[in-house]
This record gives sequence, structure tokens and C-alpha cells, in this order.
Amino acid sequence: MKNASKKYNIVTFGCQMNKADSERMAGVLENMGFEASEDPNLADLVLYNTCTIRDNAEQKVYSYLGRQAKRKHKQPDLTLIVAGCVAQQEGEQLLRRVPELDLVMGPQHANRLEDLLTQVFDGNQVVATEPIQIVEDITKPRRDSEISAWVNIIYGCNERCSYCVVPNVRGVEQSRTPEAIRAEMVELGKQGYKEITLLGQNIDAYGRDLPGSTPEGRHKYTLTDLLYYVHDIPGIERIRFATSHPRYFTERLIKACQELPNVCEHFHIPFQSGDNDILKAMKRGYTHEKYRRIIDTIREYMPDASITADAIVGFPGETETQFENTLQLIEDIGFDLVNTAAYSPRPATPAALWENQLSEEVKSDRLQRLNRLVFASAETRSERYLGREEEILVEAQNTKDLNQLMGRTRGNRLTFFPGKIEELQGKTVKVKITAIRSFSITGELVEVLS
Ligand code: SAH
Ligand code: SF4
Ligand code: F3S
Repeated sequence: MKNASKKYNIVTFGCQMNKADSERMAGVLENMGFEASEDPNLADLVLYNTCTIRDNAEQKVYSYLGRQAKRKHKQPDLTLIVAGCVAQQEGEQLLRRVPELDLVMGPQHANRLEDLLTQVFDGNQVVATEPIQIVEDITKPRRDSEISAWVNIIYGCNERCSYCVVPNVRGVEQSRTPEAIRAEMVELGKQGYKEITLLGQNIDAYGRDLPGSTPEGRHKYTLTDLLYYVHDIPGIERIRFATSHPRYFTERLIKACQELPNVCEHFHIPFQSGDNDILKAMKRGYTHEKYRRIIDTIREYMPDASITADAIVGFPGETETQFENTLQLIEDIGFDLVNTAAYSPRPATPAALWENQLSEEVKSDRLQRLNRLVFASAETRSERYLGREEEILVEAQNTKDLNQLMGRTRGNRLTFFPGKIEELQGKTVKVKITAIRSFSITGELVEVLS
């Protein structure tokens, strides 16, 4: 094999889509004969799979890249690749900024890595950022976990939230066929995986672009249809999905989650702001009242469901009162977790050009206040677990205390309990919860379920 004994290292930034893409690119490289190296400085091929959602994510890439570019001067046969969202955003310009690069490839090109590398090994510097129809994956991903796996169901995003780069860098929505998704899940079940997270930037858009409709021909195929189609795969005990958009979220989907035992009682539905004028300026297409109704409906069907979200503070023009409306929403709803961020102006997004930008001081002050509330809200939500027996899927050792194991509840709460990894990894167990914190809980093993 021509690449035998060559080593690769992939560094992944950003969201679950990037993690899933990295696993597929690692699969391609291993199929080509490369071996994984923990240390980028010992690798013959270094790939950065990048994120540009906020400015600090983008800057991190440049500092990493600088170090490897220097190494290339001493080791000219080092192959340097930038993949993902910064690659898509910057394209050719990245080559000018870092001329040591061999390959710049956008997210839609992840499955074409072998093709692109062949051109690189022929002596070309390659930029692959043109929009394409994503090719179905032919190589097996090299997955980081043996228990829990990502499965992409829809790529891209057709929304145009006024702050967001994702549509620019991930392209238009492209749904995979239900058959391809089910086949991948069946294969994962055979390999011993127990949990699958279905992925999409706007997962409720799933199916909109598929040519056919349901066999009865009455409506377009939706995420809900997909859940009914894939819920019963041998071996797969838990199905999750993310990210939901409040604008498209349906009661039918909630019913499906309640009805299908393997679909977990966890909803990740970003609200971004609790203020209607800010939501309008963000072009989110819903009001906070609509968001609250969605959560009420979920709780009518599944009182114990976990609710998580994302929020942005310091959007251009946000007043103190508008910010307080976000705090109020969090207080009223009670979230298990909220990923928070200060607004960061992004290239080629409408809001970045507005003149009513807030100062860094105001943004960071609001972020701290928001985080304090999120912490308290999450702790209150954790309290409901105290004294309960929870079903936990054991993933790994607790890296901070090797006598403990780490897993998650069906609601996705991080859970620790004493146990031996050799005996319990990948098992579903019952744990009695004895202590709680904001974002994790601790307990004792009661019994092994499966
Ligand atoms: N598709 C998802 C989220 C994708 S990006 C959705 O529609 O909710 C992940 C999160 O990053 C977003 O939910 C948002 O909270 C945050 N984000 C996106 N653009 C941002 C920006 N310019 N500044 C700060 N946070 C941002
Ligand atoms: Fe970005 Fe909005 Fe698409 Fe989410 S729905 S990825 S926030 S444009
Ligand atoms: Fe970042 Fe791209 Fe995901 S910008 S958040 S890696 S879609």
C-alpha cells in the first residue's frame, strides 16, 4: 500500500456536523493506508476541520495552522489540509494567507477527500469549495465512540438568520434518503452501537427537498416519518436528534417521540432570544409566545422531557429590557442546559453591517449574567433526578476520577457512578441518583439492564 506507515492527525473544531465529517474523513484516510497519530507533530498529514461560527473559533484555527506551516519548512513532504467552515468561507484567500497549505476543502467535499488528495499527491495545490451535490459516503467512518454514533440526515441550511454564517458555508439543504439513513443505522446496530444521534443544522427541514413523498402520496416525507421508519433497528436502544428549529417544530413530532420507546425524551430547540423584536431582527420567524407554546406542548405529552437550547446575547441594538426578556424566558421555562454566546459579527451576514453594534463590555456583562441564570436553572432541573433510578448508557471512565464511570440519562444528563469499565462499558444500567450538580449527577449502580 503506497501510504503504509504514513500517519495522519485530524483536529476538529465546531459542532457535531464537523465531528461527523471528521470521522468520515478519518475513515477515508485509513482506507488509503494512513494510520492515526495522537500527536500532530509526528503526523505526515495534518487536517484541521474548522469552525467559523464566531470570530474566536476562526482565530483559533489560524494560530494552530501557523505552527504546522512552520514545520512544513523543515519537512516539505508534510501534507497540510484545512477543511470545514473556515475553508469554505475563505477559499482561495486561505492559500494566500498560508501558502504552505496543500488543500482547502469545504464541508460539502468531505466525502471526496481521497479524490482531492490524489490531486495533491500529483503535485497540485487544491481548493475545493464549489457547491456540489454531496456524494453518499462509500468509506466507513472511523468513529470515536463504539457506543454512540452520529448519523447525518440533512446537510446545509436554507434559513437566513441575520447573524449566522452556516448557510454561507454549509450550502443549501440536502436530505439523505430514508433508505440510506436506515441502512447506515442497521450497520451500526450490527457493530454493537446502542445510541444514534441524527444530525441536521435545521433537522425539521428533513425531507423537504426529497423528490418523492410518502407511499400514499399525501404529504412530503418529514423527520417524523423518518423516526417511525428507523425507530426499531435491532441493537439501537436510543435515538436522539438535533437541532430543532422552533419555526417548524410540530406536535406530530412530539407525539412520535412520546410513542416510540427508543426515541429519547430530550429536545434541543434553540430560542436565541426571548424578545420578539430581537427575534424579528434575527429573522428567526417565531415569537417567544410560540416558543413557550412548543415547550408547553412537549411537557403535556412528556412532563419529564429535557429541554436544552442555544441563546445569543448582545445582538445589535439589544436593549437592557430586551436582554431581560431572554432572562425571563429562561426563568419561566427552566432549561436543562443552554449553550450561550455573545454575538459575534460574521463576514457576509446582514447583522454584521448594522451600525447599532454593542460594546464588548456590554456583551460580556450580559453573557455572565445569562450564564449565572443558566447555571441556577440547570441545577433546579437536576434536582428532579435526586433519589430516582435512572437508565444510564455507560460510555467511558470519568477522566477526573478513574474509579467512576460516565454515562448519560435518556434526557442526556451527564451521570457518574462507581464501577469497572471492563465490565460495564456499552451496557445499559440502572443507577440510583444520590447527588446532583447543575450539569451532572452522581449515583450508585442498582442493576445491569442490557
Ligand atoms: N441551526 C441551529 C444552530 C446553529 S449554530 C439553530 O438554528 O439554532 C449554533 C449556535 O451558535 C446558534 O444556535 C447560535 O446560538 C450560535 N451562533 C450562531 N451565529 C452566531 C454569531 N454570529 N454570534 C454568536 N453566536 C452565534
Ligand atoms: Fe444558522 Fe439559522 Fe440555519 Fe441555524 S437555522 S444554522 S442559526 S441560519
Ligand atoms: Fe461551526 Fe460550521 Fe458547525 S461554522 S458550528 S462547524 S456548521
